[in-house]
Amino acid sequence: MAELASSFIETKAALTVTIEEVRRIADRFRRAMVLGLAGEQSSLKMLPSYLGKPAGSEQGLYLALDFGGTNVRVQLVELLGSGQWVIRQKKAVALKDPQGGYDFTAAQAKAEQLFDFLAAQIAAVADETRDYRLGHTFSFPCYQRGINHAVLIDWTKEIKTTGAKGREVGQLLTEALIRRGLRRVKATAIINDTVGTLLAAAFGDPCADIGAICGTGHNACYYEPARAMIINMESGNFDALPLSRYDEQLDAASEKYGTQRLEKMVSGRYLGELVRLIAVDHLAWHLGANILTAEDLAGIIGGAVPRLRELTQLTAQELSLLQEITQVVVTRSARLVTATFLGVLDYIDPELTDRHTIAVDGSLYEKMPGYANVIKLTLAEALGDKASLVNVKLAKDGSGVGAAIAAAVATGTG
Ligand code: BGC
Repeated sequence: MAELASSFIETKAALTVTIEEVRRIADRFRRAMVLGLAGEQSSLKMLPSYLGKPAGSEQGLYLALDFGGTNVRVQLVELLGSGQWVIRQKKAVALKDPQGGYDFTAAQAKAEQLFDFLAAQIAAVADETRDYRLGHTFSFPCYQRGINHAVLIDWTKEIKTTGAKGREVGQLLTEALIRRGLRRVKATAIINDTVGTLLAAAFGDPCADIGAICGTGHNACYYEPARAMIINMESGNFDALPLSRYDEQLDAASEKYGTQRLEKMVSGRYLGELVRLIAVDHLAWHLGANILTAEDLAGIIGGAVPRLRELTQLTAQELSLLQEITQVVVTRSARLVTATFLGVLDYIDPELTDRHTIAVDGSLYEKMPGYANVIKLTLAEALGDKASLVNVKLAKDGSGVGAAIAAAVATGTG
């Protein structure tokens, strides 16, 4: 074990984000925001959403379609005004059949097939005898020209569906709804999932001004007072980061080399693979690429019974090193994400005098043991006493509810 552990010391140092590094990254992030907003060269796209903060008084029954890359969720959401809502109905289905029957995220799938699948899920929830307004959460970088106009810049999260890049997402959905005979469903708003998360949080909390997803993918948005609008930063593409050789290795084997550098270091889609690359290097262990999932990592940290046979074959010593590797990779993820939050806070409130709520949704934040706590501790370490002004909270189902709020805002029911 001593040998195993000592070989990991150097790697561990390379993967540890010190508080000085957190501050440096925060500063680079803030500068990248400024450049991106000015339309200058920046890894942050700073995409307008055409949505401000909701009034909280929005009302009505809306369909919410949430398409994020792993699952499709359709919800019937009733906004009650006064910052309250009720989810009346809910349906979730995987985009890739675990039994291998279908995969709408593969290169063989065409955009029309994917959107027909989305329309089929909507059909299962919508009552044919009434009209609906639908808000669509589409969790990929899009250029927007209005609340209901979004063009897909490119897929992220290793999605390969053909024929969608450069297309108008609302049109793809509307055509699929018509093919399905759902003429009474009107898609009225398209939002990013981070924007949905912030809208849902801001519906009842005026201090909410940052929204983030820490799940399969990673991204954050914030409310820009100068434009009275929420800006989707596409922060998963931020790249002024201390990369290790494992990050390089992972990037080289990914679908889109050189893009989404932060996302590849922090999000659930990639953390298992990072742990695998490090473990293979230090444990002379053979495990196929992309087999380890974020749920496996949660199990490794939490000491749960392993899902993979390969994990059950490790000796106690090897397992303990694997646990340490996992912990280091997960902690790095949470600290890097916090550094970007600090960058945004510094941009919107340089003296940090106001209260801020950072609303976060996503499986990693919700389920990875210790993840939310590392974010909290890192904020406290960086901000000292002022950390009490910053409240990071889980906004569960935020992206779906946010879609309903966006549909309501587009319809003008405030
Ligand atoms: C996408 C973002 C999205 C994030 C979280 C990223 O891969 O580019 O648009 O917000 O994943 O789902």
